[in-house]
Amino acid sequence: MSPLRTAALAQILGGVIAVFLVQIAYPRLFAAPLVVAAIQGACAAMVSARLGAPKWWLGIHLCFLPAALWLTRLGQDLGIAPLWYFAGFIALLLVFWRTDRNQVPLYLSNAATAAALASALPDAPCQVIDLGCGDGNLLRRLAAGRPDCDFVGIEHAPLPWLWAKLASIGRTNLEIHYGNFWRLRLDRFDLVYAFLSPVPMPRLIVKARTEMRPGTLLVANSFAVPGVVPEHVIEVCDRRATRLYCYRMSGDRQ
Ligand SMILES: C[S@@+](CC[C@H](N)C(=O)[O-])C[C@H]1O[C@@H](n2cnc3c(N)ncnc32)[C@H](O)[C@@H]1O
Repeated sequence: MSPLRTAALAQILGGVIAVFLVQIAYPRLFAAPLVVAAIQGACAAMVSARLGAPKWWLGIHLCFLPAALWLTRLGQDLGIAPLWYFAGFIALLLVFWRTDRNQVPLYLSNAATAAALASALPDAPCQVIDLGCGDGNLLRRLAAGRPDCDFVGIEHAPLPWLWAKLASIGRTNLEIHYGNFWRLRLDRFDLVYAFLSPVPMPRLIVKARTEMRPGTLLVANSFAVPGVVPEHVIEVCDRRATRLYCYRMSGDRQ
């Protein structure tokens, strides 16, 4: 089951169990909706754990309904129109898009990583792609430092894509595309950069080995491909001790 469906099921079952418990134990509690919401949160968290959801979902389930109720009251007290909450939801959706499905959230490569990646670029002019380029900041840094190379970014979350697209206007060696990188062939690229999450890495190495040319490089920020030894690892001197795992394509279609 997808994480979002599991979460929805936990919330619904948590609600049913909470109403049942309050009804049989102490119906007067229905006069205190925040308390009932807290009980629903606890029940939803337990159901979520039983369904095998990752631990960090527990906090979300505990807080979801109480926070929604509290914010609704706060909105009423401060005269905030409900439309603002809806606008906030739409803004988050446009930034994080289908994180529930692909399990790759938005977080950005820092300046030290961009500098380390620049040092990994071939000396000769080359073609580089950032799979899921976010706001495109990494590519803008690289494109500014290497005018002899062509840089491509592809992003499927609407708001980061729009930002990256607008910010790239006027840079002749940088293209930003809207779309799903799984549908893009990688054979024209000399270096493919991916800062994603542990989830897509096994699928990504299969795609890279199938489509990339021998001798080209897949650079994975932070998330190594399980069971595959990288050709080398670049240690970035930043606070989070970023590691760039570099996989050279051998031409064996394993
Ligand atoms: C961790 S961020 C990295 C952003 C950027 N590459 C950087 O290093 O600063 C991952 C990005 O990949 C995007 N993404 C995830 N799956 C994608 C897909 N299938 N196609 C296009 N973009 C995707 C997400 O929306 C997110 O913006």
